[in-house]
Amino acid sequence: AGDFSLRGKGAATVVILGAGVAGLTAAYELGKAGYDCTLLEAADRAGGRNLTLRGGDRLDELNGPTQDVTFGQGVYFNAGPARIAPWMVTLDYCRELGIPIETFINDNAAAYVHTNGRTVRSRTARADMYGYVAELLAKATNIGALNRTITKADQETLLDFLRRFGDLGPKLEYEGSMRRGFTKYPAVDLGTPLDLPGSLHQVLAAGTGRAITNNFGYDQATPMFQPVGGMDAIVARLTEAVGQERIKTGARVTKITNLHDGVEVVHEGGSVKADYCIAALPPHILAKIPHNLGAQVTTALRAPVPVAAGKIGLEYGTRWWELEDRIYGGVTETDLDIAHIWYPSHDYHAERGLLVGYYNHERDAELYGALSPEDRRRRALTQGKKIHGEKYRQNVLSSVSIAWERRPHIQGGWVRWPDFDSSFTFLQRPAGRVYFAGDWLTHLIAWQAGAMESARGVVTRLHQRVLQSA
Ligand code: PHE
Repeated sequence: AGDFSLRGKGAATVVILGAGVAGLTAAYELGKAGYDCTLLEAADRAGGRNLTLRGGDRLDELNGPTQDVTFGQGVYFNAGPARIAPWMVTLDYCRELGIPIETFINDNAAAYVHTNGRTVRSRTARADMYGYVAELLAKATNIGALNRTITKADQETLLDFLRRFGDLGPKLEYEGSMRRGFTKYPAVDLGTPLDLPGSLHQVLAAGTGRAITNNFGYDQATPMFQPVGGMDAIVARLTEAVGQERIKTGARVTKITNLHDGVEVVHEGGSVKADYCIAALPPHILAKIPHNLGAQVTTALRAPVPVAAGKIGLEYGTRWWELEDRIYGGVTETDLDIAHIWYPSHDYHAERGLLVGYYNHERDAELYGALSPEDRRRRALTQGKKIHGEKYRQNVLSSVSIAWERRPHIQGGWVRWPDFDSSFTFLQRPAGRVYFAGDWLTHLIAWQAGAMESARGVVTRLHQRVLQSA
């Protein structure tokens, strides 16, 4: 982000709708170039979906009860974004803004895979699947099934790799491996390895395939990162750099009028006139605000479909997952409606700790979102117990759950474009003097990097236009 410095005349005024990550990034970059920005934020705080909850916070839901957060000192819950891939521009902003980062453990061989009612360590599930896949391919190679496809020399190289990939025996058979783990790990003695794996049929029937490949993606591969102390450090530092006084909170936008020489925005408590506007709200919220930008804008804004997403933070009096399960960070993958359990990648060996008891989206999230906070917690604990046993329900000090589709002014975890069609392209361009920004206008949906990249693009195009009109 240090590359970003706009040159030339930049004295225009810009009203930015929404002080989420896109709006804040736009204001930050425009501010560096001398623009005069005002941000209108409907909520009582900036940040949008970048939300870190701590003791003393309150969380409201549309038509739902308010939750009081009672976490102990130092305990926090990233209710929205929580992990950053190293190639994402988000890390450049952390560097530029002086936000310390630490490793976010996304892949942990000691975490569990829970599928079809059975729980195994991730390392065990992988060893078995890789082992049998390697054995099958090695056998196929050896009976000549690949003779017409690859040369003998390539087959030798392949077999050499498969031996390592699957930890195969001398006859290219998979007969278990120390990679599976131990019931008692080696010390002065050799330890006690786990029992032998089930048959190939049993391993396939366990259905671990989706779970063990979940973090293979370019956006999920290790290492990932998080700001030390909570994701909202990004909001705090951006707000500081932009100037708190430029952000009007409690200012829900009620009308957007494109004029020939500017834009007028009416909000609760007043109105603002500026040379340009950047609308950085969720599309489904924006679509409901009266405007004179044309019917095609409204139609385009209605194309992306909001997706429900939910998480629960469970605070425990002991970090039993570290002490008993030896799980330090990472994710347990399940085929239950909780989808994932996340263990904290920070403050290891602290007295208390918070794990994410579910992180789901679409139908699973809608199901939990429709429950009361107590029922969400009860259900999450019942599901987690299937993996961790009775201790999962003991010593829970407090919990908070978020249902993003029920968050005022946001109403969704992220959006899904049925296809990235002409509406997506259409909204990349301004409607008169109104520009659109947000992760929903990128191919990085549900990432802060998407919000930031979109804002950077808009700021660049707006500045070019201002220079041309000078
Ligand atoms: N960025 C979110 C996450 O890390 C949502 C997401 C998941 C987006 C997987 C893309 C892929 O969980």
